[in-house]
Amino acid sequence: MCGIVGYIGGKDATPIILNGLRKLEYRGYDSAGIAVLNNETKIEVRRDAGKLDNLVNLVAREPVTGSIGIGHTRWATHGEPNARNAHPHVGTTGRVVIVHNGIVENYQELHEELAAEGVTFNSDTDTETIVHLIERYISKTGSLEESVQKTLQQIRGAHGLVVLSADEPDKIIAARIGNAGGVVIGYGEDEMFVASDIPAILDQTHRMSFLESRQMAIVSRKGVIVKTFDGKPITPVIQTINWDPIAAEKGEFRHFMQKEIHEQVRSLTDTLAGRVDFEKGIIQLPQLNLTSETARKISKIIITACGTAAHAGMVGKILIERIARIPVEVDIASEFRYRDPIIQPGTVVLAISQSGETADTLAAMEEGRLKGATTWSIVNAIGSQAMRVADGYISMQVGPEIGVASTKAFTAPMVDLYMLAILLADLRGTLPVDQRKKLVNDLRLVPDLAGRCLERELEVAELASELKDSKNALYLGRGINMPIAYEGALKLKEISYIHAEGYPAGEMKHGPIALIDKDMPVIALAPKDPWYEKMASQIEQAKARGGKVIAVATEEDKKIEQLADFCLWIPPVPWMLSPILTVIPLQILAYHIAAIRGLDVDQPRNLAKSVTVE
Ligand code: M6R
Repeated sequence: MCGIVGYIGGKDATPIILNGLRKLEYRGYDSAGIAVLNNETKIEVRRDAGKLDNLVNLVAREPVTGSIGIGHTRWATHGEPNARNAHPHVGTTGRVVIVHNGIVENYQELHEELAAEGVTFNSDTDTETIVHLIERYISKTGSLEESVQKTLQQIRGAHGLVVLSADEPDKIIAARIGNAGGVVIGYGEDEMFVASDIPAILDQTHRMSFLESRQMAIVSRKGVIVKTFDGKPITPVIQTINWDPIAAEKGEFRHFMQKEIHEQVRSLTDTLAGRVDFEKGIIQLPQLNLTSETARKISKIIITACGTAAHAGMVGKILIERIARIPVEVDIASEFRYRDPIIQPGTVVLAISQSGETADTLAAMEEGRLKGATTWSIVNAIGSQAMRVADGYISMQVGPEIGVASTKAFTAPMVDLYMLAILLADLRGTLPVDQRKKLVNDLRLVPDLAGRCLERELEVAELASELKDSKNALYLGRGINMPIAYEGALKLKEISYIHAEGYPAGEMKHGPIALIDKDMPVIALAPKDPWYEKMASQIEQAKARGGKVIAVATEEDKKIEQLADFCLWIPPVPWMLSPILTVIPLQILAYHIAAIRGLDVDQPRNLAKSVTVE
């Protein structure tokens, strides 16, 4: 979704903003623009459709300089993705300019009202109404701050907004309403930054604070004043973000996705760090604020999430039900709030989200909260809404994930859910000590085992060359590896544009088996888990219909080796942890197929990294 960067200080704003926009490319966008206050008097705007390089080239041909500026990458919702609709948008006077993330839900009505007043529109966007409204109020009040405040009270929907006025060149105003993405304020020495996302400004500063909904920030080069929309002063909490800016660079890898796949040894190690005491065999998740008393009161957990995060939740359901014997439902967040879900006393709504800003997931959390549930989140982006609004959270600790296709932010929450299941069972007094110690000890080898899967990248790449021209693929799994079939299929379709279906293997005979022929690769998850024998017979059924079977199987498994046409091997692992490994060859497979096809792996068409609109 849209990305925002703003700068105010003593340096040239243009390279800082363009560099910040580069760091936000992963969010997904289709045009980009920059506005700089030249000599503190004149607003200069450059915008172009397509990739950021188009804007960079435009700025090289027609330079803009100044020490205050704002920039934007746009993911079109209203109006085509062309230069005219790209942000920033300037008002009629040429004195006010804005960038915006969100949808003005009442824009038709506002558009008509403004047009009736004689305002001429220069784009097809909903955003342009905002700048005209601000100008309308400036003409009455003379104050940018007051005008932004009044405007925000008039527009419906969720928004992140940054505004600059040539008549008040000592400030940038940023504001947030609801869940259209975050607004991050960065603190430098005699300079300040504004962004929609941490990586945009991470190489400038590690000191950041975050706006809550219905708060605005008046940012000058000396600091920031934060207020609610009704004028109540807020003291911002400045956090030090320890993410390494280098972690947001590709390094030796061709794509961020490939780098992030390989980072999983590290991210899984970091996921365990500080949470697992292997000596005592205990788990600690302090940010959940759990006690024996609160754990015993839990009657049900509803896991809610979207996409890949929902697949992690499906694995979590099996783990929590098996280990803690608490009933768990998994609800796709975009469905949850619209079906008037039943929330009984003792229910926990647990959201999983890499970005912590997914609109549907946040809305599901809100629905749970309104109905009296305790809300928890498993979230990666520090300071994100899902982390802040939850009653308790588990931080993923995987560092920035830039590739649109989620990889390390899939394996980490599965480990988090495993740890949560152990902790809950322990606190509820239902887990014998020896079992708890065994379960905890099993975690010890997970990072290394993930590393062994990664070492087989070349074998997987070989298979990718064979499958690169496939038109379809069927992924089958059962039990705890059934969600991995969904995830493998999602990875393939989102980056390689090959149609792929994930299916519970036992359901195959109820329909999808009709699809199987020599042109349909069948990827079967058949590690040594409790569903192994069932999967072996499923493979036989697919083979009997002429299907080409690729099995994800446990090293040395002669039976599967004989049955399948090709095996992707994982090392032996306790079955409850097997999804953390079985997904890795499928991530690598999808990556190499997309890379061989020459596709934009990190920014696949039509997709955004964090989906902040409905
Ligand atoms: O930031 P979130 O984890 O809430 O995002 C949820 C989904 O949008 C995300 O997992 C999406 O499915 C990815 N593209 C999958 O690779």
